[in-house]
Amino acid sequence: MANSYTRIARLKDAQSFRTYTENLGIDLPFDETLQVGGHAPLAQSYLLKNGRKIGNRFCILPMEGWDGTEDGKPTEFTKRRWLNFGRSGAKLIWGGEAVAVRHDGRANPNQLMIQEHTLGGLDDLRTSLVAIHQDQFGSTDDLYIGLQLTHSGRFARPNVKTLLEPKILYHHPLLDKIFGVDPDLPVLTDAEVENLIAEYVRAAKQASELGFDFVDLKHCHGYLGHEFLSSYSRPGKYGGSFENRTRFLREIVAGIRSAVPDLGIGVRVSSFDFPPFRPDENNVGQPQEYYDDQGRYPYAFGGDPDHPLEIKRDEMFALMEMLKSLDIELVNLSCGSPYYNPHVIRPAYFPPSDGYLPPEDPLVGVARHINNAAAIKAKFPDMAVVGSGYSYLQEWLPKVGQYTVKNQMVDFVGIGRMVLSYPEMPADVLAGNPLARKRICRSFSDCTTAPRNGLISGCYPLDAYYKARPEAERVKAIKAEA
Ligand SMILES: Cc1cc2nc3c(=O)[nH]c(=O)nc-3n(C[C@H](O)[C@H](O)[C@H](O)COP(=O)(O)O)c2cc1C
Ligand code: SF4
Repeated sequence: MANSYTRIARLKDAQSFRTYTENLGIDLPFDETLQVGGHAPLAQSYLLKNGRKIGNRFCILPMEGWDGTEDGKPTEFTKRRWLNFGRSGAKLIWGGEAVAVRHDGRANPNQLMIQEHTLGGLDDLRTSLVAIHQDQFGSTDDLYIGLQLTHSGRFARPNVKTLLEPKILYHHPLLDKIFGVDPDLPVLTDAEVENLIAEYVRAAKQASELGFDFVDLKHCHGYLGHEFLSSYSRPGKYGGSFENRTRFLREIVAGIRSAVPDLGIGVRVSSFDFPPFRPDENNVGQPQEYYDDQGRYPYAFGGDPDHPLEIKRDEMFALMEMLKSLDIELVNLSCGSPYYNPHVIRPAYFPPSDGYLPPEDPLVGVARHINNAAAIKAKFPDMAVVGSGYSYLQEWLPKVGQYTVKNQMVDFVGIGRMVLSYPEMPADVLAGNPLARKRICRSFSDCTTAPRNGLISGCYPLDAYYKARPEAERVKAIKAEA
């Protein structure tokens, strides 16, 4: 699959980058010069209200590898990725990767779990990350590490890689159809939700005992936490009103506060969403249409029901107010879902094998991420806000990142895919080293194509470790067939 947008590597100087973004009609500001040293914006520490200091403005976003054991423990692949997170130089490690609180909530049969029998493995991940960071950067008192807790809900595949075993909160007219959800599948009952809340609290207590500084109560990407936020049509105490749709989150927070009051809490949230996209006859992604009897699309948290491809922030602002009132300072802003609108969450030049050609220049998606985060940060200046979606900027990531931090559009530059191909990018930027161009993520999407086809994830095109693995040939063949 190919597309005709200009590749970032061709935008070699500030003028061409500026002209290109202006021609796209997007606002994507950047600094022309990268600052180095103690006064550099990206090198500034951030003091949390709990007194903990985060040593710089780079955040490693959670990145799972579909490479745990069948009973949810990490493997050498997992450990290598976490060591790379530690070697990156970033001082905020947001969650490491999605860790299911129990078996039926795993997104794949190789997802990590947090249960009694996996604690040794999770401990090893955290302590190894800390040790390598200490070794390379000489301090860890300003390193802040969380664990991302999840239940995969509608996208659970706990037993067989190809078999969805969804746990849903309501029937969604488009997603049910696209993902083959049985129209008679019972939704999770309120009592089942209450049991699940207890599992989150138990998991948070275990994470705290392992030494994690905070847990992320994942509310993004179509998984269960996110589905609560859009449960407009669900009856009962977990659906309908904003108050009810956020009850799951509030009850977990209350449970954690009473069990482990000193544990930090963060929330990664899909701060806006759009309808699902599917490929058209030319393989280009197109939004699927659904309108209720009032002519609205009422299923996207942070979307405008009257204009389904537009953002409406009133509920996201209400969520921020609520988090503030719960004394939650750390918020990580993502959007959409990798399952039904991947170009929104992960702007990419090359789509994954089960995806579609981008319906917009991927830079439009990056600008949407960045300006959305800035609009939220502007209204909540006291919250510690992490932005996402920077990897597609490639060579321009550091200069756009510096601008956004310097101008308080965001507090932390979140890095996802780039850390798979080029883990040391944050350290190189902070040290003023030239970028290793051959290791810059070019958004080939192999790290998504591989797991979509039952293989472990990794940067097959650019990371020598994965390049040399037998799976690399398989990924090439899959792409050739696509
Ligand atoms: C292979 C892969 C695994 C991911 N795993 C997770 C995850 O476990 N939890 C999560 O919140 N996001 C996950 N994401 C999304 C990233 O954290 C990030 O939001 C996304 O890649 C966009 O940021 P980027 O442009 O820097 O890559 C994953 C993305 C990729 C490509
Ligand atoms: S496979 Fe490598 S280059 Fe491709 S998107 Fe993933 S990290 Fe980037």
